[in-house]
Amino acid sequence: MKKIIIAIDGHSSTGKSTLAKQLAEHLDYIYIDSGAMYRAVTLYAIENGFISSDGFDKIRLIQSLSGLHIAFKKDSSNNVALFLNGQLVSSKIRTMEVSNMVSQVAALPEVRKCLVKEQRLMGLNKGLVMDGRDIGTVVFPDAELKIFMTASAKTRALRRFDELSNGDASIDYKTVYENIIFRDKKDSSRKNSPLLKAKDARVLDNSKLDQQAQFKLVLSWVNECKKETP
Ligand code: DC
Repeated sequence: MKKIIIAIDGHSSTGKSTLAKQLAEHLDYIYIDSGAMYRAVTLYAIENGFISSDGFDKIRLIQSLSGLHIAFKKDSSNNVALFLNGQLVSSKIRTMEVSNMVSQVAALPEVRKCLVKEQRLMGLNKGLVMDGRDIGTVVFPDAELKIFMTASAKTRALRRFDELSNGDASIDYKTVYENIIFRDKKDSSRKNSPLLKAKDARVLDNSKLDQQAQFKLVLSWVNECKKETP
């Protein structure tokens, strides 16, 4: 049976990456977290002083894009690790500082153009699961399976809070909830590639679905799409 492209879009903390990873492992496909790529560019902008709470020097970031190299590699435990110009940044891109600034960076058309180009190259041989905000609408409009994931803001904030607060008392739920609402608004209202459900995407609301039931449902979609693919 032919390999397909699976595009998973949706709001933050809907469990896109968990599902995408599960699928990639089960199908022996490549998994790409496109949000991590936007986070890596944001980290680069922070570390080079292009963005801070005082302002954003967009021009300098845009001028530096050609010198930025993002790569996903599997580590010894088979986990996918993210490297920015050769430096391991998988943990650094998950801080609140990056989360608070990533929407501004992701709204820049020049950044999107550069990352979309990279993402399309990753899909040349199919056998790919990619999650993000514009995968089914912009990056792979012809993906064989498109999934749009959703869940209530409260459910999502609780999930992100659990992830972030692990041993860190400085993280409070209210800040995490506000960050989710802020990013939802930014991601859905930006001019360039806003978060939209592709017309042909299948909606997956997992507010009340457990992971096992969700995976079973999605696998049935995968099998349908594979049958339809010549
Ligand atoms: O999935 P995430 O929360 O790690 O994504 C980080 C940010 O990147 C989020 O604010 C939305 C943005 N993003 C995007 O604009 N387009 C994508 N394809 C993926 C993420």
